Amino acid sequence: MNTVNLTVNGKPVSATIQPRTHLADFLRETLNLTGTHLGCEHGVCGACTLLVDGVPTRSCITFAVSCERAEVTTVEGLDNDEITRELRAAFSQEHGLQCGYCTPGMIVSARDVVQRMAAPSEHDVRVAMSGNLCRCTGYVGIVRAIQRVVEARRGRGIAAIPDGNRKRLGPSGSGHADPASVAETARPKAVSPAATKKPAKSSAPAPRKDTDWKPQTSFVQGFTVSHPVDVVWDFFGNIPEVASCLPGASLAGDPVDGHVEGQIKVKVGPISAEFLGVADVTRDDTTRTGTIDGSGKDKRSNSSTRGLIGYEVVPGANLDETRVNINIGFTLTGALAQFSRSGLVQDVAGRLIGAFVQNLEAKLSHKAAGGTGAAPVVAELDAGALVFSVIVSRFKALWAKMTGRGQ
Ligand code: FES
Ligand code: FES
Repeated sequence: MNTVNLTVNGKPVSATIQPRTHLADFLRETLNLTGTHLGCEHGVCGACTLLVDGVPTRSCITFAVSCERAEVTTVEGLDNDEITRELRAAFSQEHGLQCGYCTPGMIVSARDVVQRMAAPSEHDVRVAMSGNLCRCTGYVGIVRAIQRVVEARRGRGIAAIPDGNRKRLGPSGSGHADPASVAETARPKAVSPAATKKPAKSSAPAPRKDTDWKPQTSFVQGFTVSHPVDVVWDFFGNIPEVASCLPGASLAGDPVDGHVEGQIKVKVGPISAEFLGVADVTRDDTTRTGTIDGSGKDKRSNSSTRGLIGYEVVPGANLDETRVNINIGFTLTGALAQFSRSGLVQDVAGRLIGAFVQNLEAKLSHKAAGGTGAAPVVAELDAGALVFSVIVSRFKALWAKMTGRGQ
């Protein structure tokens, strides 16, 4: 962890953060400044553009620690800025926005154009704004809005302030950070060959644990089941039964000494991923705790995941109820990594767990009634539908907050 001191929208901020945290995540998740949007997270779309020491900067590819002592201005900090006010009106008059997702980044870049360029042609504006992508408008309204503001200001005798020193656009950082500390903290540490050596082979099936692995994202979830703790704990010992409660999961064969191979299908909008992988399952009857350590790969999207789940099964608040507390840590890489933002994943995991509990309850109730097992209620995870329901529930929560009404 590193401490960073900077000024955000005129207020001094000091925080202890992970060196890899990018500026946009820091602003959105630590300071709740969600006006900075994230699109590609690869420095391509411009949605995350803000000002670092007055220079438009891609905050998704700028480490927050590299902004030590910088003046950061987000779109929220431009509320009372004169050029921004004029641009907001012009965007509205020229139909320069529809969904508005690109708009904060557009406004920050457009403000820079208005400030620096004396009399830009349509072509000049298009070139200057070419680092900001918009999926809705076709750009005509955006370009017109910018030209309108430039012309109006020059007409009022307000000259451009060309920045002759401008040599680069982001990621710029502040230029204040101690290069040694940035280099040390922002780059992955060199790992000695000895540290990367695979563990020696043992008689256990396919040992796969790399002890220095740390999940990128971790969070805690839990649920309550309306069945006694012994029954739930016994059920958790039956890996195929547990897997059958997980939407989209299936095993390739019987577990051997807690080692299983299988797959899980996930639909994310139009993308259908099928992670093939392995997992090692441990459990401790004394403490009623267990772990599932798994990894998988989806060939089509070339995405990989590694996850470690720890759980404990404890008596619930009411008689014959059981509480299951879960620690989830995972890393997702490849094309699907864009869906690994922690808030979203927690919400999606909450809904996935909801489906799991629904299936678990159905099976346990069926067994308690003397049946031989019920088919899972939810057979496949459609993360696209889940993501949509997450957005709807967040919108509802925001609406309730704004209107002061409960949901
Ligand atoms: S989110 Fe696309 S450039 Fe930063
Ligand atoms: S207004 Fe929708 S992306 Fe630009």
